[in-house]
Amino acid sequence: MFEIKNNELFIDQCSTIELAKKYDTPLYVYSENKIVENLKEIKDAFINKYPNTHAAYACKAFCTLYMCKLMEQEGFWLDVVSGGELYTAIKAGFPMEHIEFNGNNKTRAELELALDNNIGRIVVDNVSELYFLEKLCVEKNTTTKILFRITPNVSADTHEYITTGKKDSKFGIPLDDEIVYPAIKYAIDSEVFDFLGFHFHVGSQLHDNSTHVAALEVILNLLKDTKEKFGYDVKDFNMGGGFGIKYTDADKPIPISEFVDPVMEKLISFCEENNLKMPAVSMEPGRFIVGEAGIQLYTIGNIKEIPGIRTYAAVDGGMTDNVRPGLYGAKYEGLIANKAEEEKDATVYISGKCCESTDIIIKDFKCPQPEFGDILAVFSTGAYGYSMANNYNKNPIPAVVVVKDGESKLIVKRQSYDDMIMNEVL
Ligand SMILES: Cc1ncc(COP(=O)(O)O)c(C=O)c1O
Repeated sequence: MFEIKNNELFIDQCSTIELAKKYDTPLYVYSENKIVENLKEIKDAFINKYPNTHAAYACKAFCTLYMCKLMEQEGFWLDVVSGGELYTAIKAGFPMEHIEFNGNNKTRAELELALDNNIGRIVVDNVSELYFLEKLCVEKNTTTKILFRITPNVSADTHEYITTGKKDSKFGIPLDDEIVYPAIKYAIDSEVFDFLGFHFHVGSQLHDNSTHVAALEVILNLLKDTKEKFGYDVKDFNMGGGFGIKYTDADKPIPISEFVDPVMEKLISFCEENNLKMPAVSMEPGRFIVGEAGIQLYTIGNIKEIPGIRTYAAVDGGMTDNVRPGLYGAKYEGLIANKAEEEKDATVYISGKCCESTDIIIKDFKCPQPEFGDILAVFSTGAYGYSMANNYNKNPIPAVVVVKDGESKLIVKRQSYDDMIMNEVL
């Protein structure tokens, strides 16, 4: 995906310096080949290896018309978490039967949009939603397929802000007998629901499979209990996403197969031993599909040296286009793209331009002496960068470009100042 030629960084045979000139900075750049390569890993390790499986792209990682189209072409489903993401999929002409809808507080309008478009399944996040959704279905004289998101009460070895499987979480139905079993019975008995089964998502940016495997134990018990208590064969199980990627050298991601194989092997043998029908199995990775496929380009502006303390090199974007460092201390690596072969004899803080002291993109960044006008490439920014972009300080959201085999294509235009005030009234 990357190459260095004549001191310049190339991505998929496109010069990052030329991309910066052509589209301006800050800029999001995605390698389509890398996205497709990531999808292939999922196909090889999961979809094509085990029968009755599918993967849904958790589009919160990077939700655009382009991604919806690409996922459709590649045979992936979509996991959406808002009316806006669902609307994007509708506008992209994505097959509605291949959409699943997650989220802990879907609004009436969002659920109506989902029901009116007959989406594939709704992942019910709490008991309150179960009753509300049933009421809506009755009102609309319609039915829907549902899964239950279960909180498996396991904690993941990741940042506290991106762990989701602990009991004290806003997500999912807790495992208390008096909550979960009545809810299952209610869903099975309801005339408007086709109860498919269970879902968990235990956290993000995970580098080992222990949390998924521990959470599976919980699901296995639920499969068995659902059969024993209600005579009901669970039809579907979704193992969520959370598969980690490489941001810096400290990250040691494991292949997807190391998450999938133990889960599938355990599930298959448990179903055989307990005489249970093997459910369909799905997953919903986000970060894994787009994270390493995306980079960001910035232009370096002012350089501030504080003698004896440190040097700040400021870029023309920041926490508005990548909030993760400020939000939960995410770490990135980068390269001065027009000095790609030069000795890294400086150590600087790359600061953003926003009015917050936490707006530091990379701390202790090793690079050649930075200068006004240099182009900085930051790696592995493809997930949760553009999708969390915001207009703080009224900074416009940058453009997004896709590159492939030496060609580049604009897939999201840069916001203009007029775009930012278009919904305002005097
Ligand atoms: C329910 C659910 N599924 C899937 C994902 C995707 O996670 P990741 O991007 O880490 O694969 C998330 C992320 O927050 C999630 O909440």
